[in-house]
Amino acid sequence: MPHAKITAVGNYLPEERLTNADLEQMVDTNDEWIRTRTGIVERRILKDENKATAYMSAAAANEALDKRGISADELDLIIIATVTPDMLFPATAALVQDAIGASNAWGYDVSAACSGFLFALSSGARYIESGHHEKVLVIGADKMSSIVDYEDRNTCILFGDGAGAVLLEADNNGFGILDDIHHIDGSHGDLLCMPGGGSQRPASHETVDNRDHFLKQEGRAVFKFAVERMASAAEEVMVANDLKGEDIAYLVPHQANLRIIDATARRMGVTRDKVMINIDRYGNTTAATIPLCLHDWESELTKGDNLILAAFGGGFTWGATYVKWAYDGADVARSNLAEVSATLG
Ligand code: ACO
Repeated sequence: MPHAKITAVGNYLPEERLTNADLEQMVDTNDEWIRTRTGIVERRILKDENKATAYMSAAAANEALDKRGISADELDLIIIATVTPDMLFPATAALVQDAIGASNAWGYDVSAACSGFLFALSSGARYIESGHHEKVLVIGADKMSSIVDYEDRNTCILFGDGAGAVLLEADNNGFGILDDIHHIDGSHGDLLCMPGGGSQRPASHETVDNRDHFLKQEGRAVFKFAVERMASAAEEVMVANDLKGEDIAYLVPHQANLRIIDATARRMGVTRDKVMINIDRYGNTTAATIPLCLHDWESELTKGDNLILAAFGGGFTWGATYVKWAYDGADVARSNLAEVSATLG
């Protein structure tokens, strides 16, 4: 059975920055509290009201396709992880299919909050492994600013907007997504949710007055679960694959809080220099954090690197994925795209 390997990475980040100093003007908070409690310094915000998650996804998708040197009509499937779809339906995947001209693809959205990208990645991988598809695009994207309450200091300091995309193709040489372990537990769903706008509480004057169309989080309670479960998922996948800390080139953690990331790395026996961290620059972009990390670190990655991707999010959802990286990122950084594509086969 082939594995699904990542053969290209793309991203989109809005230019507008929301700094801790900006937030000090909006709610009762301060830079020192935000930095020490979360590790965040600034986030990107998509200000243009006419642009949303599909726009960012399409831009990330186009970069990945350009890097691989293929056109959108070669895609078989587009999966988009998001909790901020442009609309409840049609799916964001449909909007992106049209925007990039993926005339031969089908697609759908995955809703699993901050674990969404990992869940979508596993789904995409299964289509490659089964031989059903040759080229699958997996995107993690969220316009969190559309559901964040900028009057709630407990949550508004945490989130930012962004999108990341990866292309999956078949590999028969031991590279790619080698294992994944995922979990869902709905018994604590109320600790992190958006109560309004679904079929249970459709939009009404009352839901708007109650601010039900904003994300709600019991931060302290979620933190306890996140620390324990992100670390245990990472450990689970390492034990299952007989991996020790020294075998790991990089931990690629969901970026919700620097303290959760550090706890996960400690449990894995991985030092800080082997952890991808960009929460300081982008905050928590929900489904986009992990592909944004892969994009930022692409030039450092070498063929054969062992990566552990780990996430925890609303649902609760959590999991970890073991990836053996399939190409030398430095070649992509040197824009030697044709050569990289040739080595990928
Ligand atoms: N500025 C200043 N003070 C603040 C702020 C702020 N922005 N926010 C909260 N405080 C105060 C609180 O009111 C509280 O004051 P009190 O002690 O007088 O009541 C104090 O700071 C401590 O508040 P806590 O909520 O206990 O702070 P904590 O250290 O837990 O940090 C945080 C809060 C950052 C939200 C943390 O709990 C966290 O990271 N939780 C997990 C987030 C997560 O992983 N979510 C899952 C993924 S996201 C997704 O799926 C969409």
